Amino acid sequence: MGRLSVHIETFGCQMNVADSERAATRLRKGGFEISDSADSADVILLNTCSIREKAEQKVFNRVGEIKSGRLGKHPLVGVMGCVAQLEGEAIFKTSPSVRLVIGTGATDRISNLLEKAVGGERRVIDIAERKASEDFQISSVERHSKFIAFVPIIEGCNKFCTYCIVPFSRGRERSRVAYDIIEEVRRLREEGFNEVQLIGQNVNSYRPKVESGLEAYGGATPFSKLLRAVASTGMPRIKFTTSFPRDFHPDIVKAIDEHENLCNWVHLPVQSGNDRVLKVMRRGHKVDDYLARIDSIKNARRKISLTSDIIVGFPGETPAEFEDTLRLVQESRFHGLYIFKYSQRRGTPAAKLSDTVSEEDKSRRFLALEKLQMSIQREIYQSYIGEEVNVLVEGLSARSSEDLTGHTTCNKVINFRAEPGLIGEIVKVRVTEAKTHSLFGEV
Ligand code: 5AD
Ligand code: SF4
Repeated sequence: MGRLSVHIETFGCQMNVADSERAATRLRKGGFEISDSADSADVILLNTCSIREKAEQKVFNRVGEIKSGRLGKHPLVGVMGCVAQLEGEAIFKTSPSVRLVIGTGATDRISNLLEKAVGGERRVIDIAERKASEDFQISSVERHSKFIAFVPIIEGCNKFCTYCIVPFSRGRERSRVAYDIIEEVRRLREEGFNEVQLIGQNVNSYRPKVESGLEAYGGATPFSKLLRAVASTGMPRIKFTTSFPRDFHPDIVKAIDEHENLCNWVHLPVQSGNDRVLKVMRRGHKVDDYLARIDSIKNARRKISLTSDIIVGFPGETPAEFEDTLRLVQESRFHGLYIFKYSQRRGTPAAKLSDTVSEEDKSRRFLALEKLQMSIQREIYQSYIGEEVNVLVEGLSARSSEDLTGHTTCNKVINFRAEPGLIGEIVKVRVTEAKTHSLFGEV
């Protein structure tokens, strides 16, 4: 029998993308082939997200689709990621065609697990913890991009915001050894990557057990030391996400000011503009704390693009409290905002609160907030016209075959007319037009 081929489908955040790359690395080492095609693969693995109900539902729809989609031979289907971790055995009941359940802590054991399933074991499950010596090795061929690499620096979350499932699906915070992170970035640089994104649920909570690798770098927190260390590798562009308000130290902004290659973009979710709601969410910050944090960002030497997340319709949120959120958004002038309708997650503390805001009200609030943000964003994007921005060229634009597309250092999408030979390069682009979600320019 030839090598079996495995197709991995990824849902959700960058951490899942990084985990899929990690899984592919392990599987290829274990003798499997990695395939881009769901139609011909022998095995399909769904790397799942459970942040909101809709995300979770996607998985079960997809399992159904796969089951009904093929006539002849059915692929072996496995579920990995957050839904696997949370639902465990129950997945076999809800979706009897699933043969393999791999939790977020079991990615490194994936090859052995799949072998068992291929060998005939009817139901294989591993939702145990990661082994102490976590292996973050990812081979470059498995990376989602040839130019941009995701580098996890911290996994899990200890914050327990009351609405959020992440502390349960991803476990407690575990920071990677700084030395390994710096080495990985050096290697990526040698291999020609032009951008790394340091990722984690809360990057500024980065706190390794020992500071080996950071001794030579100054900074008020381990994270800002790490930023300086990574900047010193000479990697042309370094981004990081997601930041947590309470742990966002102004020294981060100082590091950005000092190092041109630390990109001028900060994603700092606020979640609500009302102190009572923030308290019930157990965010650990008030509105004024947040405004103080973003002050340091707004006063930076370089223009830093600030983006955020907001949940509307949290249990008990009154119309007046929602108005407070509108006011905060008005004042913060985010360059981008992800708005979510509250979604009850089983097992989280907020699930015990009665979900008082109706679906209609959630939708109304969503639309009102979106409308406000769009008007602000339009102005902000317009303000870039005439400016020269630094762009990593990522590929052909989806809209027109004559245009290329990429992201600015401030993480905005920009399209521009240029030769495809520039793909992978960093170029200067002059902004000539602006929409609400993208810029247009010329090299
Ligand atoms: N309902 C709605 N949105 C949520 N988020 C996290 N949990 C929930 C939930 N239960 C949002 C938060 C977070 C983003 C990744 O997802 O805004 O910052
Ligand atoms: Fe979830 Fe809060 Fe942790 Fe972010 S900080 S992952 S919202 S618990």
